Amino acid sequence: MILAFDTSCDDTSVSFYKDCNLYSNIISSQNDIHAKFGGVIPELAARKHAETIAYLTEEALNRVSKGLGDVEYVAVTVGPGLLPSLLVGVAFAKALAYANRLPIIPVNHIEGHIFAPFFDREINYPFLSLVVSGGHTHLFLVESFGRYKLLGKTLDDAVGEAFDKVARILGLEYPGGPAIDKLSKTGNPYRFKIPKGLEHEKSYNFSFSGVKTFVKNLVSKLGNLSKTDISDIAASFQKSAVDILVEKSLRACKDLNVKNLSISGGVSANSLLRDTFKERCEKEGINLILPPKELTTDNALMIAFASSLSLDRATFDYASIEADPSLRLTVD
Ligand code: KG4
Ligand code: ZN
Repeated sequence: MILAFDTSCDDTSVSFYKDCNLYSNIISSQNDIHAKFGGVIPELAARKHAETIAYLTEEALNRVSKGLGDVEYVAVTVGPGLLPSLLVGVAFAKALAYANRLPIIPVNHIEGHIFAPFFDREINYPFLSLVVSGGHTHLFLVESFGRYKLLGKTLDDAVGEAFDKVARILGLEYPGGPAIDKLSKTGNPYRFKIPKGLEHEKSYNFSFSGVKTFVKNLVSKLGNLSKTDISDIAASFQKSAVDILVEKSLRACKDLNVKNLSISGGVSANSLLRDTFKERCEKEGINLILPPKELTTDNALMIAFASSLSLDRATFDYASIEADPSLRLTVD
């Protein structure tokens, strides 16, 4: 029985996990706080984590009628993420583990995302894992837990970052991903041809920084934007971002002859992305594994689940558990 924490960015999350039939997953969003700044302010995020984490812990335990006495392991995201945010979760988890004489498991946030889609089903190795979030756009070959090959990644902005930046240019609310997703449903995705970064490169790398410049120029060329213009730009951008993710991931599956593909991270909540991948994977005989929507964006349940696959990392050496904002996944 694991009590897990994720405070890597702007959501405070606590989860109690035994198995896929007994768990809680409390997520407290800070969107209201950061929306007026159009992005996450680390100092404010950390303060809010510190304010809510104890209460959310109570809530996570209450939801499953458990108490601290039932907890066998504490798990916590140690990186990557925003340092002030990470420090709150790490300090709280260490204090709680120390006071209750419990072993603590450090978890890499990206490992949490990679395994989130499997929390309620069997893992068939090897699989390709596309992690698409506000900070990452990475394509891994996963051979087993802890054995990863990095096939490609973004050379500049993450795809979630591109959604957020384009939304900002279009005057939409923060975070931009869900706003663009919603608005695109009424837009014409074929009206504007938005360039796809590194489309003609053989590598599995991505690039999304050119898109925001392109959209910025397009917006100033159009002048006063009508509602239709805004939804058409949103839909056209979304289509170009999704298309390049689909093309490169499916090509990698074919090249490596891997039949399992999982997608995770905040952008995997995107409805066009989910629909397009489903359709294409079905056509090409690829087994697609998508997380339920509540496990796409940051949450502590995925941290608990990843820690359950790495109990051998549990330690009583509390001093060895440190927040590392630029923690990397060890890859071959
Ligand atoms: O995984 P996540 O919660 O945090 C990071 O680890 O970064 O991902 C957040 C990102 C944000 O950029 C947000 O705009 C994006 O995921 N996102 C979406 C959608 N929901 C969240 N992007 C596109 N469509 C969505 N429905
Ligand atoms: Zn994340």
